[in-house]
Amino acid sequence: MTPLVIAPSILSADFARLGEEIRAIAGAGADWIHIDVMDGHFVPNITIGPLMVRALRPHAKIPFDVHLMIAPCDPYLAAFAEAGADSILIHVEAGPHLHRSLQTIRELGKKAGVVLNPATPASSVQNVLDLVDLVLVMSVNPGFGGQTFIASAMEKIVELKAMIAPRAIRIAVDGGINPETAGLAAAAGADTFVAGTAIFKGGPEHYAANIAAIRTTAARMRRRDAA
Ligand code: DX5
Ligand code: ZN
Repeated sequence: MTPLVIAPSILSADFARLGEEIRAIAGAGADWIHIDVMDGHFVPNITIGPLMVRALRPHAKIPFDVHLMIAPCDPYLAAFAEAGADSILIHVEAGPHLHRSLQTIRELGKKAGVVLNPATPASSVQNVLDLVDLVLVMSVNPGFGGQTFIASAMEKIVELKAMIAPRAIRIAVDGGINPETAGLAAAAGADTFVAGTAIFKGGPEHYAANIAAIRTTAARMRRRDAA
């Protein structure tokens, strides 16, 4: 089976101490660091740019999973690649040329991911599956941490799982993930779990236990037929 990946979203970290927070979360067992990039246009919030990704890069060796909630994304792909992103995730809804944008990410030598908002159907990624390493299903509307999990996104994961097989593409879920909802997502077919609030709650001394709690439930609830 594909190893489970737990990717803490630093949106819930202490922004005044981000380097320290990244070292702490990597030391606590995170597999990837999930970085939420927001532009105040595609989503109603503004967060991190390539300069910050570059500044954070030396603080951890684990992959940087950069989730672009920006439109257009094309003018910034190279900057995030050069700043140290290992995977670059772009939204289906962010522009008219998804195929071209994904090609660009691959040409930059990075893993490519495609993200679906809650209202976007699984079929929207059918024609780009040859260009992606990961499909991310949003289980909240993007823009903010700490929102309520949208359970209907699980049906979309089931659909995607069937559509993707037998390709080696990860299925990730992002938004409202805690040990309980990670179990639901794992049962539907997700193998990669992004979580902000549930992982950063309680401060650094709780990070390892928070990560382990999600990993344990996800592993237990995983579909037996998962590839
Ligand atoms: C939402 C972001 C998420 C967010 C998750 O726009 O893409 O990565 O940080 O936060 P929680 O886990 O608090 O829902
Ligand atoms: Zn995200």
